[in-house]
Amino acid sequence: MKTIMIYGHPHPELSLGNKTILETVKAEIPDMDVRHIAELYSDGKFDIKAEQEALAAADTIILKFPVYWYAYPALLKKYIDDVFAHGFAYGSTGTRLKGKTLIVSCTTGAPYDAYAEGEFQSHTMDTYMFPAAQLAKLCGMHFGGVVHTGGVMYIPGVSKPEAKEPIIKACQVHGEKLASLLRR
Ligand SMILES: Cc1cc2nc3c(=O)[nH]c(=O)nc-3n(C[C@H](O)[C@H](O)[C@H](O)COP(=O)(O)O)c2cc1C
Repeated sequence: MKTIMIYGHPHPELSLGNKTILETVKAEIPDMDVRHIAELYSDGKFDIKAEQEALAAADTIILKFPVYWYAYPALLKKYIDDVFAHGFAYGSTGTRLKGKTLIVSCTTGAPYDAYAEGEFQSHTMDTYMFPAAQLAKLCGMHFGGVVHTGGVMYIPGVSKPEAKEPIIKACQVHGEKLASLLRR
């Protein structure tokens, strides 16, 4: 089973959490194709054909990103707008993603427990990620769920140095969980 990860962090050089998750999964699933979209396309002009072929070659697609304003970062949203196009991903002739699995892997600065009804963020991450679940449905894909880790906020020079280790550990657990989903 072939996996592709669309790595949608707009500032990968500043990442601690998503970088750790990516490295953990990659160590377990070395043949995973990772598309570093901020590095490949710093101008946001995607090679749509190449990206579509890469997606079509995979059985499982992971969307991996830090949550920005309760959603995908703009770069990843643009990637989806451009690459998951009519005639490729959906529409009467758009069947290239049919039967594949889509998984969301995301991190938030706010703690995991804040993402619940009655808590500060009011909704679960499953609720916020409804657009991904519905995208999967429209494209004839199976939605494999959301893997979410909260409390992921480390700003070098600002955050306390001791804050780093718990974030790394939590993100390693996240990476292991993702890898176990891929091995099923
Ligand atoms: C523009 C912006 C918007 C953000 N919006 C949210 C948000 O809606 N909810 C949240 O809990 N954290 C939010 N955060 C925090 C990020 O999700 C957090 O910094 C990120 O998950 C850390 O991952 P990284 O170490 O890979 O960069 C935001 C951060 C930025 C820069």
